[in-house]
Amino acid sequence: MRHYTSISDLGNLKAAVSEALQIKARPFAWQNLGKNKSLLMIFFNSSLRTRLSTQKAATNLGMNVIVLDVNQGAWKLETERGVIMDGDKSEHLLEAIPVMASYCDVIGVRSFARFESKADDYSEKILSQFIQYSGKPVFSMEAATRHPLQSFADLITIEEFKETARPKVVLTWAPHPKALPQAVPNSFAETMNLCNYEFVITHPKGYELAPEFSGKARIEYDQNRALEGADFVYAKNWAAFADPNYGKILSQDRSWTIDSKKMSLTNNAHFMHCLPVRRNMIVSDDVIEGPRSLVIPEAANREFSAQTVLKRILEGLT
Ligand code: CP
Repeated sequence: MRHYTSISDLGNLKAAVSEALQIKARPFAWQNLGKNKSLLMIFFNSSLRTRLSTQKAATNLGMNVIVLDVNQGAWKLETERGVIMDGDKSEHLLEAIPVMASYCDVIGVRSFARFESKADDYSEKILSQFIQYSGKPVFSMEAATRHPLQSFADLITIEEFKETARPKVVLTWAPHPKALPQAVPNSFAETMNLCNYEFVITHPKGYELAPEFSGKARIEYDQNRALEGADFVYAKNWAAFADPNYGKILSQDRSWTIDSKKMSLTNNAHFMHCLPVRRNMIVSDDVIEGPRSLVIPEAANREFSAQTVLKRILEGLT
């Protein structure tokens, strides 16, 4: 594998999950693969899980790791070509990318949607420039439209905890005080649509995801009806996608918060969220702390999601 920007880059997902579980059982078995290879992790946005789990995964494979927080300690980067750089941005991405690439073998990039231009966000303007100008394998640590390390960890977790061959999985919108990108729900939906699960997406009207991500999922505007019989409830907030409301908050309706009354409608469902989560906005304290909450094992699986991706990239290096 050269680049990892979407779950589909993994090919056969059964084989990918099986590989991730083998890595989980023996994380240090491939320590020679990354010997004398360097990973550069570039963050345009904050992170806890992605930063720690990817660094741990790379170390498990014997790699050296360099981390750059673009907005803390580096020159401010201009990303638009043709701009007269007389403002506060000292360096252009078009020089910075090949320079950074010269110090490493593999690059991870985190660059969220900016909600300034839907066209820029949905063409992955920043991530695609890293792929185009670095000459190195690049993987997404959450880009504008997808978070494929997260959705692969979500899939590993569902496969570990499912109690029926074809579980019912419900992705539900939940309220949040800030406008959040669609990357996590997009990637989750993309992944679920590749699996033989019953998959339902529920949200208030106006929060439809891009059709290429919602795909064949059943869309249900009545959250209670969507939750009936669910085996997994994946809660997440996202801002509107459809024009003219792209990037806007249309609702903060707290009746969409997942609490024990909502969970009582399900088939004793497991609760999932990618974290970080706003308690008592997205989910009540008792649900996230309850015995069916998977948020901690789900986050722990980020290590093996990243290690599978890095292993395949290292195996593909010539
Ligand atoms: N879920 C996730 O990507 O967490 P971080 O933003 O903390 O990396």
